[in-house]
Amino acid sequence: MKVLVLGGGGREHALVWKLRQSPRVSQLYCAPGNGGIAEEAECFPIDLKSVQSIATLAARLQPDLTVVGPELPLSLGVVDEFKQRGWPVFGPTQAAAQLESSKSFAKEFLQRHRIPTAPFAICDSIDEVRSALGHFHTPVVVKADGLAAGKGVIIAQTREEAAGAAAEMLSGKMLGEAGARVILEECLQGDELSFLVFSDGERVVPLVAAQDHKRVGDGDTGPNTGGMGAYSTTEMIDDQMRDWLVHHIAQPVVTGMKAEGTEFQGVLYCGLMMTARGPMVLEFNCRFGDPEAQPILMRLDSDLVEAIEASIEGRVSDGDFRWSQDASVCVVMASGGYPGTFAVGKRIDGLAEAGAVEGVKVFHAGTSQRDGVFYTAGGRVLGVTARARDLKTAVARAYQACARISFEGAHYRKDIAGRALKK
Ligand code: AMP
Ligand code: GLY
Repeated sequence: MKVLVLGGGGREHALVWKLRQSPRVSQLYCAPGNGGIAEEAECFPIDLKSVQSIATLAARLQPDLTVVGPELPLSLGVVDEFKQRGWPVFGPTQAAAQLESSKSFAKEFLQRHRIPTAPFAICDSIDEVRSALGHFHTPVVVKADGLAAGKGVIIAQTREEAAGAAAEMLSGKMLGEAGARVILEECLQGDELSFLVFSDGERVVPLVAAQDHKRVGDGDTGPNTGGMGAYSTTEMIDDQMRDWLVHHIAQPVVTGMKAEGTEFQGVLYCGLMMTARGPMVLEFNCRFGDPEAQPILMRLDSDLVEAIEASIEGRVSDGDFRWSQDASVCVVMASGGYPGTFAVGKRIDGLAEAGAVEGVKVFHAGTSQRDGVFYTAGGRVLGVTARARDLKTAVARAYQACARISFEGAHYRKDIAGRALKK
């Protein structure tokens, strides 16, 4: 069968890499893809902001399956367009994708369905922010309502700082339309967990859990990013916790969405804080996480196409997934200056040497290729991912591979999975 993957980041490289292993797949396309993906799939330049140009490409390629990587085309209704035309596609509709594209929608949904989440207030003006702030202790979390690529959340230490951040979001200068409405939220303490499930609109099947590292600096310092690294092990949550998360969070979300007429089909990513009061929802994403997809897919031993088909055809079950007991870790190498402004076009060296480290796969995110040479082309450049029998070995392998790669300005966190290793 012919499969089209939409997107061009590290997550999409991992999807392409995994889909290519399926005996069912004869042709693999990716749009727009990146320098590394082009080695494993035929890539087509495309503007993911245009559902029309995606549909035009798909009409030409006629894929038997399209897998949507990023949130943007989902929030613009690419799945609705494909479904209208009767084309098989994996991902939620525009209405269901609101769980990610509107944080106010998600928070009100959680409240309606009594799913645990932090107390919050939704504000459309700075006056509303100022009066709501009186109800919150500090630190307080300020979030832009719309899509902000992981950069729309500020943890303010004082009410003044919170009001300032909210004012900046509301002014539209910082994030445009995404900040036209803001959410204030109690700041939760605990370990974060990325709990992803496949949903067929009715039932859910959990994937192995993962943990992201959102801050740019070691020891969780500096600003938030799209994600600087992630790991996955069997020990992260036990069976009892996994069942609790399914029955008290993931399944009620999918059941609630169906009851409200916005059936959710695809990957539901529950971003959780494991607090002393129990797990609470920080956010939803309506797709695989990036970089979580890289370590999660590295642990998947069964055929991803089969699982996706089961979801599309309304018959997901635990049997669709066979997971390795191995641990996996992804270390993101980023451009100098990221998550702020950064330069691109820097030559990348050492990729082959890094890929030669046992158990390592270097996924490309922001890269381009010219005459056999790779160059940086984005903020997050590479996801150096390793698998091994235990986490310590996986981490050692990933960092051994990172040390072999160089490009001007490269930086990466040295403590991915560090807290788990200390425990
Ligand atoms: P979100 O885009 O909502 O996932 O937020 C991005 C990141 O901000 C999360 O992964 C957390 O690290 C942090 N965050 C969001 N909401 C809260 C909260 N209520 N308390 C503490 N940290 C939060
Ligand atoms: N790693 C977080 C995200 O994909 O949004």
